[in-house]
Amino acid sequence: MNRFDDQADALRRRYAQGDDGISRLILHFVDQVEVICSDGDHLDQYNRRRHELLMQIKVLELAYLNLHSHAEMPSVSLDHYSDLAGMQVLRGVFSPEFATDSYQWANYIARRGLVDGKSVLEMGAGSGVISLFLHRNATPRSICAVDVNRYAVVNLHTNVDQFGIDPSRFEVIESDLFSLVPSKRRFDVVLWAMPWIFSDERFVRQVLEDCDDPCEKVLLRSIIDPSGESVRKFISDARSRLSPHGKVLLISSDFIPNGMIRRHAEEEGYLYRETVFAKNATVVEATGMALDLYHLELTLQ
Ligand SMILES: C[S@@+](CC[C@H](N)C(=O)[O-])C[C@H]1O[C@@H](n2cnc3c(N)ncnc32)[C@H](O)[C@@H]1O
Repeated sequence: MNRFDDQADALRRRYAQGDDGISRLILHFVDQVEVICSDGDHLDQYNRRRHELLMQIKVLELAYLNLHSHAEMPSVSLDHYSDLAGMQVLRGVFSPEFATDSYQWANYIARRGLVDGKSVLEMGAGSGVISLFLHRNATPRSICAVDVNRYAVVNLHTNVDQFGIDPSRFEVIESDLFSLVPSKRRFDVVLWAMPWIFSDERFVRQVLEDCDDPCEKVLLRSIIDPSGESVRKFISDARSRLSPHGKVLLISSDFIPNGMIRRHAEEEGYLYRETVFAKNATVVEATGMALDLYHLELTLQ
């Protein structure tokens, strides 16, 4: 048996009993890794696809942990990020408890002074880890935290209260992308820790549609954006929401189709720049997920 056969067996054993969509997707992706075969002429392509599938499995395992770790608890207090001690994460919200990439990115943004003196909108703010960190450790003029997930919106309000933040400097809006953000508002920076699985497979869309557990459904939406449709719409719609020379910031990694994002951004008239801000960083201790983390910066010209 090679190394993936062992891993595949372990994954099948762990998720075969799961009656949730996340388990079905993990088993589906495991099958796919076994189906693709190396072809000497296209080795790079094969290796890339295999890496992509293995990382997608790890992202799904992260969502599984997120869904099942605190089944009975209405909330978890995040005390292991010392500068955000006491922050709450409610059930049904993508939790920074399991993955540190958002926290590492927020640190990078603050260190580079990218939001100082700026009006900032965070799309898909979730529990608020990035916005709260920037509020505390940088000097943004204002923050507007947006999410389509109702549980996340409640969670954001909880954390604004918990940290005693003046709500006039930290607004929370429930909205599908920019649809309910007042159209006259302009921001200097809009950012998104976007979903990282861009699969366009029918099976994946079907699992998303069939999911009838509301917590699982929103967690799936936190990690899967079929064909990258939402991120492309976000980039397009941000054009009319940015101040002159405003920026869109995205966190990406080495298994994301950054080329697709670049092409779309350039077609929309942005200047595209990408930087690896953490090399081989362990982002999920539980599954040993280590990645190169990318900061994508799209500047309106
Ligand atoms: C990867 S999670 C990041 C959450 C949080 N920012 C963090 O870093 O922990 C992606 C977030 O995007 C949100 N999201 C997905 N699609 C969205 C949409 N169309 N409009 C607004 N938010 C969306 C999800 O609900 C989720 O909170």
